Amino acid sequence: MDIQHIISELSTNEKKVLLTLKKLKGSASPKKIQEQGDFSQSVEVMNAGSWLQAKQLIKIEETITKVYSLGKEGEHFLKNGLPEKRALSYINKHNDKATIQELSSVLLGHEIPVAIGWLKQKKWATITKEKGTILTITPEGKKAVTQQMPEENILQDLHEHPDSEIDASKIKSLLTRKNVIKEKERIHSTFSLTSQGKQVLDHGFTITEEISLLTPEMIQSGTWKDQTLRPYDIHVFAPSQYGGKTHPLVALIDHIRQIFLELGFTEIQGQFVESSFWNMDVLFIPQDHPARDMQDTLYCKKPSSIEVPQKQIVQKVKTIHENGGDTSSTGWNYDFSLEEGKKALLRTHTTVNTIRYLSKNPSPPSKVFSIGKVFRRENIDTTHLAEFYQIEGIIHEETATFRQLIGILKEFYKRMGFEKIRCRPGYFPYTEPSMEIDVFWNNQWMELGGSGIFRPEVTAAVGVKTPVLAWGLGLERLAMLKYKQKDMRRLYVSDLNWLHDTALL
Ligand code: PHE
Repeated sequence: MDIQHIISELSTNEKKVLLTLKKLKGSASPKKIQEQGDFSQSVEVMNAGSWLQAKQLIKIEETITKVYSLGKEGEHFLKNGLPEKRALSYINKHNDKATIQELSSVLLGHEIPVAIGWLKQKKWATITKEKGTILTITPEGKKAVTQQMPEENILQDLHEHPDSEIDASKIKSLLTRKNVIKEKERIHSTFSLTSQGKQVLDHGFTITEEISLLTPEMIQSGTWKDQTLRPYDIHVFAPSQYGGKTHPLVALIDHIRQIFLELGFTEIQGQFVESSFWNMDVLFIPQDHPARDMQDTLYCKKPSSIEVPQKQIVQKVKTIHENGGDTSSTGWNYDFSLEEGKKALLRTHTTVNTIRYLSKNPSPPSKVFSIGKVFRRENIDTTHLAEFYQIEGIIHEETATFRQLIGILKEFYKRMGFEKIRCRPGYFPYTEPSMEIDVFWNNQWMELGGSGIFRPEVTAAVGVKTPVLAWGLGLERLAMLKYKQKDMRRLYVSDLNWLHDTALL
């Protein structure tokens, strides 16, 4: 970046820190800079310092040192003397000998083994075992009685100057004793000019009184005209702020809902737990269809069955399955089982919502849609989940045609941003003709959903006499395309980075 520009964006404090650093030969502690640069508060130096570092004009290095103060036991030793010293003077005063019991008059219980240990180590006393343990003072011990020990000096120093930096080797013997010395870490930072910082100083600048904020008073009184306003650096680093936001899948659902509402549809809802009757029988899915198998459908244990109170519809469905009733179909030619129909399951498609709706609203016209979760016993992989959303819908009107079905689906995908759509013949037990829809993406066709016109065997069961265009489309596949995910499962992983960074539709 050009030097002149960098200088124009320096605050007064930043300039002052740079000038002070120059005076201090290029590197100094913030404390030194505060003193030498005439700053009233250390935060001014620290703030300016971190900005200068962000602008690469200085480097801030941190080193950690240990500082020491007296602990509880340390204070106690300072006041009463080190245990070995107390023991020593007792022995000295009592004919150079003492038993352990006698020492307890000058030492606390836990101090006795400590004192004996140190007396031995410092060779101040010898230990002999006669009728008990006897400590006898040595010539070294005699000398030590009147001498000030280095440990005692250190205790005194640390008492007078807590948080001192002392060479750890000097206090080794005190550090090994419990609660005598407290250790803390202290961070020292050093600011040093970078080559860019030096260039800025070589170029030179003046410190002028400048402002970074305009107040209403300045504007009203017109004094802003005489002020120098510091330019903002919009490129300077600032931490990202992440507020709450809608989950990408929810955003997609809202978007899809909006499209259908704009196209004049009404939203309907249903329930997760359904009877096989409504999920399958009414839709003319044969009772021995492989999709009913435990392989594909998740049946419920509690309740394991659900009553189907709609007697009239049950009767119609039974007849249609057995012989086609008056639909001119031959039906499936078996004995219909209401027991099979009562089985409780987790809905395998949202087509159950539309067929329930049609049974209550058999007269045209109607345009409804639903977006809801369905459940299947799938092997989970990059493009399959056991729980997923379907976008379901119907157009029920007297003049409805297959061409219209293609048109509405193409329109929906176009509004979703997909222009290249392929319609293929398909098969569903409840539609004729049936159609599959694929979208071209990343150089390949991806299957997105099924559709068709409900068969007479379906419409007759619910008392509908006019054509119904129906579709059920996958939501997660659409989400994969929209959010550029190769693995469908990632949509449901709470990956915070992905959630933060994904732009919503
Ligand atoms: N129910 C079908 C499925 O789950 C989709 C579909 C809905 C097909 C409506 C035709 C008509 O895949």
